[in-house]
Amino acid sequence: MKDVFILAIESSCDETSASVVKNGNEQLSNIVASQIKSHMRFGGVVPEVASRHHVEQITQVIDEALRIANMSMEDIDAFAVTEGPGLVGSLLVGISAAKALAMAYQKPLIPVNHMAGHIYASQLHQPLQFPLLALLVSGGHTELVYMEKNNDFQVIGETRDDAVGEAYDKIGRILNLSYPGGKAIDELAQKGQDTLAFPRAMIHDNHYDFSFSGLKSAVINTVHNAKQKGDTINPEDLAASFQASIIDVLVHKTKQALLEYPVKQFILAGGVAANKGLRFALSELFEKEFPTVQFSVPDFRLCGDNAAMIGAAAYHNYCQNRLANLTLNAKPGLELTKNSEKGC
Ligand code: KG4
Ligand code: ZN
Repeated sequence: MKDVFILAIESSCDETSASVVKNGNEQLSNIVASQIKSHMRFGGVVPEVASRHHVEQITQVIDEALRIANMSMEDIDAFAVTEGPGLVGSLLVGISAAKALAMAYQKPLIPVNHMAGHIYASQLHQPLQFPLLALLVSGGHTELVYMEKNNDFQVIGETRDDAVGEAYDKIGRILNLSYPGGKAIDELAQKGQDTLAFPRAMIHDNHYDFSFSGLKSAVINTVHNAKQKGDTINPEDLAASFQASIIDVLVHKTKQALLEYPVKQFILAGGVAANKGLRFALSELFEKEFPTVQFSVPDFRLCGDNAAMIGAAAYHNYCQNRLANLTLNAKPGLELTKNSEKGC
């Protein structure tokens, strides 16, 4: 089969990114313009500010992705773009750019689900093996997904309130860490001890759903009570206790799911997949209890939002002829779904 070169665009939240991906598994470029500095002073992403930055960055980021890949628009076979989930204004900037390119160059337009992108980030370093189980942990989502084949997503568990990354960022604010707090909490946690015995919500329940809002409240109450009494809490122990609760729940639910759904491969994906404590705990689980299951986690650079993962996922949509026309619109609440079509 002829090589397929996809130019992919990602703009669902606060990263403007473009990438050229060959055959869904080789990134020839992956340019990511982060807006974190602009949002830091507000302690979170401000949607209007995010959209404006995307508009300012998108053309340069696309040009740079082509330049680094040493290609021209004529060499590209199709344009891919994140259609959702995400912030509507942010998504629309990427979608408008991709539609303009598809129209100008008369090439196919491929819509991609952002969460599918996080899963397919793994394909950029090793092939996916089915059936597989993926644990998606990002700023907006926490999901366990079972896949029997490409593009076939069965969500077997999800959070009933806060996403893991959201909990990290909120606790980061309580600890006066700069936004987004995940990485800094992870670093603090490495130096502390799990001394505060925070709750592990729904850990022994007979389902794969998660809940992290009770943990968040427990941490906030602990900090407030200590302040009122004039006590000091060691931030390293607080971070370690918070992180231990999250990791215990994620590892336990993963283990339960693996017992019910025997798989060949397990993929850890999403921004929180960069968490060193979580990567270590899961790798130990696989080494000790599931040595025949391949544990796959993307490079740190591919855990956060980026367009190469969108190009990797787009390849399967392209093979299945799942294309969009110029009426493509942003879908802020888009979910992962099952699919019966045959791919490549
Ligand atoms: O996937 P992502 O880049 O954006 C969304 O699609 O949401 O995930 C961003 C999230 C943020 O909440 C950030 O704090 C978290 O990933 N994160 C981490 C770490 N690095 C990033 N959380 C825990 N530990 C980390 N090392
Ligand atoms: Zn993401």
